[in-house]
Amino acid sequence: MHHEFWQDRWTRNEIGFHQDSINQYLVDFWSTLSPSGNESVLVPLCGKSHDILWLNQKGHAVLGVELSDMACRDFFLESKLNATVTPGSPFTTYIHDDIQLWCGDFFALSPQDTAHCKLIFDRAALIALPSETRQLYAAQLKSLTQNGAKILLVTMEYPQAEMDGPPFSVPSEEVHQLFQSHFTIRHLHTQELGRDDPFAKRKGLSQLQEHVFILQRSTGKSTESGLL
Ligand SMILES: C[S@@+](CC[C@H](N)C(=O)[O-])C[C@H]1O[C@@H](n2cnc3c(N)ncnc32)[C@H](O)[C@@H]1O
Repeated sequence: MHHEFWQDRWTRNEIGFHQDSINQYLVDFWSTLSPSGNESVLVPLCGKSHDILWLNQKGHAVLGVELSDMACRDFFLESKLNATVTPGSPFTTYIHDDIQLWCGDFFALSPQDTAHCKLIFDRAALIALPSETRQLYAAQLKSLTQNGAKILLVTMEYPQAEMDGPPFSVPSEEVHQLFQSHFTIRHLHTQELGRDDPFAKRKGLSQLQEHVFILQRSTGKSTESGLL
């Protein structure tokens, strides 16, 4: 998925993925990560999600990373928060107190940028990416996290042949395949949405499920440099 694809989606306001309310799995399962409230939270591919505000209201400093400057600007405008904008490369930063949105490519983040983030929330980030980029995304999360870091991950599963992504189908098996070398994986929940779900109906899907996982960074079995 090229960057222009997402920039166009934002420019045309084709952002059906954006939720008007807080993600229900975040509300239901965040406590399962046993957060103290002091940890900084990384939100990859964050859009202008209200989940950022919810996490901040729980006491977390939040670092969101998003390609679209329109999304970053709209997040602060719609939240009625003034942000200090600092143009830069590879990231232009939008900062209000302890909410930071970094506008740029998630793959340009370095481990130093996120060393303070012990928790991560991924809703519609992994599943926004095509198969080959999902492998790079998993590798990037490995390199950005240290032992003990936890990710609350939400994925979607449907017969991929019935629709082109995004969102892409990412079943439990793929989550294991992508992350098991460096994370312990706990499957928390599966929601059967089925063919009558409005999204499934619109896309003509015969089946639809959402899965929720906690991934916890472990030392890993690989001996690749930088990962242990
Ligand atoms: C499906 S949306 C999900 C947004 C958000 N997580 C939510 O729940 O509303 C995916 C977002 O990722 C952004 N994006 C795509 N590729 C990216 C990249 N390489 N780096 C940063 N953001 C990216 C897109 O602009 C888009 O806003």
